[in-house]
Amino acid sequence: MKDISIEKFIAGIPKAELHLHIEGTFEPELMFTIAHRNNLKISYSSVDALKKAYRFNNLQEFLDIYYAGASVLIHELDFYDLTWAYLSKVHLQNVKHVEIFFDPQTHTQRDISFDVVINGIYRALLDGQEKLGISFRLIMCFLRHLDEASALKTLDKALPYKKWISGVGLDSSEVGNPPSKFQKVFNKAIEEGFLTVAHAGEEGPSEYIWEAIDLLKVIRIDHGNRCLDDDILVKKLAEVQIPLTLCPLSNLELKVVQDLKEHPLVKMMEKNLLVTINSDDPAYFGGYMNENYLGIAQALNLSKKQIAQLAKNSFKASWLSASEKHTTIRQIETYLQNN
Ligand code: ADE
Ligand code: ZN
Repeated sequence: MKDISIEKFIAGIPKAELHLHIEGTFEPELMFTIAHRNNLKISYSSVDALKKAYRFNNLQEFLDIYYAGASVLIHELDFYDLTWAYLSKVHLQNVKHVEIFFDPQTHTQRDISFDVVINGIYRALLDGQEKLGISFRLIMCFLRHLDEASALKTLDKALPYKKWISGVGLDSSEVGNPPSKFQKVFNKAIEEGFLTVAHAGEEGPSEYIWEAIDLLKVIRIDHGNRCLDDDILVKKLAEVQIPLTLCPLSNLELKVVQDLKEHPLVKMMEKNLLVTINSDDPAYFGGYMNENYLGIAQALNLSKKQIAQLAKNSFKASWLSASEKHTTIRQIETYLQNN
């Protein structure tokens, strides 16, 4: 066993990212470039001024800035460049597989066509697979602050792209917008062959996690921090091994936790929950995958074995085939033995 630092150990270990909003990877520099070429103005005078605005007290304060940022994305090339920039970054972090969210309603509401959005993103994902060796799945999220009729229309728009979209999810303002509001559209999505996930228990109560499982039939929960409020729910999540896609730096920046030392990750691992580490909206929360792994590893004093377990979990919880999962998990086990 070589004694490399935790930082190097994290940088070198193969990882999968399962909770990532592509609109949340929009770095200020690229935002200014794209705004300029689209003849649009950003309401901040410089990249630095924009970065200074990235201080949030809760999810809604973040979402207001996140939707404003996404509003400069107009053309297929903009969506391509956004996605390609993300893939290029995580390629350098040894991320081998990504399952990314996109929010079509953020764009169709501004009269950008669904086709423009998905063509740009998908073309970059194909290039990422071919040129960077990153495999992928695409997940279409419904915005939960909008009504179910809008989500149903969005699902209709997605049907011609069934082969490109593996699943549907639910994001945006959680409190007051329970999963039950979207039961019809999720049932229809399942009938059409989509897998389902949902953000639940980030700011909302543990009851929302129950609703996501029982009513939306999700096979993965995004965040899920609040599950710890309910012992019966924890038991169910552990028994069925429903994965939770945790996002430590997001939780810190949105004040879901006040300090990473208070993050429930280890408690969850001790309860045999299938937890994974992800970046959520890395351009806004100060870090991509390696920064999330390192931040939580340092705060909670994680061992290399625990870090390797989290990396293995990321593949186990993914939608790769059983044999693809097996191959990568073996690689991680070898990596742990050698480092
Ligand atoms: N959309 C982008 N990031 C999100 C988050 N952390 N929670 C809910 N919706 C989001
Ligand atoms: Zn999210």
